[in-house]
Amino acid sequence: MTIRPERPDDAAAIRAVHLAAFPSPAEADLVELIRASDGFVPDLSLVAEDPDGGIVGHILLSHVGIAGSPDPVLALAPMAVVPERQRQGIGSALTRAALDAAEARDEPLVIVLGHPWFYPRFGFRPASRYGIFPPAATWPDAAFMAKPLTTWRSDLKGRVLYPPAFGRLT
Ligand SMILES: CC(C)(COP(=O)(O)OP(=O)(O)OC[C@H]1O[C@@H](n2cnc3c(N)ncnc32)[C@H](O)[C@@H]1OP(=O)(O)O)[C@@H](O)C(=O)NCCC(=O)NCCS
Repeated sequence: MTIRPERPDDAAAIRAVHLAAFPSPAEADLVELIRASDGFVPDLSLVAEDPDGGIVGHILLSHVGIAGSPDPVLALAPMAVVPERQRQGIGSALTRAALDAAEARDEPLVIVLGHPWFYPRFGFRPASRYGIFPPAATWPDAAFMAKPLTTWRSDLKGRVLYPPAFGRLT
């Protein structure tokens, strides 16, 4: 299995991964909305590819704002592995590769709204611990997580401002 940045001709296969992994097309649509937006970072859209060329997983990190800060941070959303290949380490490999790629770009922080049983093993902790808050107070504290990277500064605090691409999920 290879992990590499997405290429333009991967779009249909990436959509198929999200449609297979999630119960609704919302995440597949989110990928396309982010890809068409200013927050898209091509280096941070990674696919997991089998040796036969089939794409079996995808992870996307894109820029979002922090109220009162001129600098963006990264949001991890969405990530998926096709059901028949889950629990084989592919999601973990994608997460580590995406965090490494974010480090290589000197990005300061990655946030995620996700499974509390998955992300803490990569160093994600409740975002409130770093003074980072979701758009609505109703978001569960345990599921809204952040991972500071090497260039993180403690003054990078505030409410996350999700761009319009995320509209239906926020
Ligand atoms: C979440 C997801 C991306 C994880 O990918 P994956 O390739 O299955 O993850 P890994 O094989 O690297 O799993 C690592 C560990 O996570 C835990 N884990 C994975 N799937 C789990 C599940 N369904 N329930 C409980 N724990 C789970 C396990 O501890 C696993 O280690 P183990 O298999 O040694 O016990 C995948 O399950 C998926 O696509 N789910 C549907 C879409 C989704 O929920 N995306 C994430 C949105 S935040």
